[in-house]
Amino acid sequence: MVVKFYLIMGLQLITCRYATNQILPDGSAVIIGGRRQFNYEFYPKSTATLSTLPFRFLSDTKDPNENNLYPFVHLNIDGNLFVFSNNRSVLLDYKKNRIMRTFPPMVGGEPRNYPSSGSSVLLPLKPPYTEAEVLVCGGAPFASYAQAKNNGTFIPALTTCGRLKITDTSPSWSMETMPNPRVMGDMLLLPTGKDVLIINGAGSGTAGWELAQDPAYTPVIYRPEAPAGSRFELQTSATTPRLYHSSAILLRDGRILVGGSNPHIYYNFSNVQYPTDLSLEAFSPEYLSASNSNLRPKIVTASPIELSYDKQFSLHFSVGLVDTTGVSVNMVLPAFCTHSFSMNQRLLILQISKVTTLPDGTYEVAVVAPPSVVLAPPGYYMVFVVNSGIPSEGIWAHIQ
Ligand SMILES: *[C@@H]1O[C@H](CO)[C@@H](O)[C@H](O)[C@H]1NC(C)=O
Ligand SMILES: *[C@@H]1O[C@H](CO)[C@@H](O)[C@H](O)[C@H]1NC(C)=O
Ligand SMILES: *[C@@H]1O[C@H](CO)[C@@H](O)[C@H](O)[C@H]1NC(C)=O
Repeated sequence: MVVKFYLIMGLQLITCRYATNQILPDGSAVIIGGRRQFNYEFYPKSTATLSTLPFRFLSDTKDPNENNLYPFVHLNIDGNLFVFSNNRSVLLDYKKNRIMRTFPPMVGGEPRNYPSSGSSVLLPLKPPYTEAEVLVCGGAPFASYAQAKNNGTFIPALTTCGRLKITDTSPSWSMETMPNPRVMGDMLLLPTGKDVLIINGAGSGTAGWELAQDPAYTPVIYRPEAPAGSRFELQTSATTPRLYHSSAILLRDGRILVGGSNPHIYYNFSNVQYPTDLSLEAFSPEYLSASNSNLRPKIVTASPIELSYDKQFSLHFSVGLVDTTGVSVNMVLPAFCTHSFSMNQRLLILQISKVTTLPDGTYEVAVVAPPSVVLAPPGYYMVFVVNSGIPSEGIWAHIQ
């Protein structure tokens, strides 16, 4: 029995290496792609899906090493999976193992996935939740990997982002240019619901051992709703290179925890250009500055809260200066980040019914929980009250 258990665990580990995971509406997970794995499977396994299911799109879009590592996967609002690999994307009905739609290749045709690692987010979902849009930023030109590996030439990373409304009947990529080239950047949805942070990575080369140069020290915020041409804003530069195997996640207090960097096979702390770095630091977006403290709400409701789909709930908060028409409540699924992609990341802007001033001068906001398991798979989320663009600390919410 023990031996058998080990065998199963062993096989599963091999199958899962460098795959992308996505939580599904029924609470299970789908595991897509990975090292020489042009397929997907489910966890936990059900009798209907004991083995892997073939996914030819992944072999059609494989990388120069015959792999397809960490494709960008987003659960669309119609329940299908948006899967982006290199320069192409499809909508997959994972239950029927059928491609429902093939999207146009991204303009320019440059690869965006490992080792040309760009990153991607599903932009915040807004009531009435009829549209979903994907953003892919950065990456490296096709020749970058071979040039860095075989010739020691580090080609500048891509400067472009592509944006695609995947719910449109005939969508097309809309391309925009970042202020800086970036490969191996991490993309995070900030709790304001209006900002995408792009942080970490390099200005030239690709993912892999010793294959990148020019650390991208300067984070940038992208504002999807700002007028075209004024969406990017450079942030304060960091001083630590965060190259291959660095990571970034949103914390409950609104900061971004940034850590790691190791572009070597071993831990090399000296005698190398970019030493292994095990440090952690936090990036504080402008909304955390002291000058915003009067606008910053504080949720008084005790954490965690239990939510039911499509049911109203209320949050009690205090704040110095409120604009009751400028209050929003945003729910963020905490992501798992590796190799520049934050899996499961999604942000829902919730439907607010009203904001009431209480006799003691605090406030109550009545909110509708996400209407469906497709929009918000069951589990734990961070919930933020945002006032005039300034988010509170989040509290935990459980929905099932
Ligand atoms: C997408 O990438 C493949 C493989 O590198 C390449 O052959 C193809 O031309 C690219 N597509 C476009 C539209 O440029
Ligand atoms: C190698 O890099 C040099 C520049 O450093 C470039 O001129 C040359 O074309 C590259 N070689 C190949 C085979 O691409
Ligand atoms: C990195 O560390 C490994 C293991 O200690 C060592 O063999 C290797 O020479 C080091 N590399 C460099 C460039 O110092």
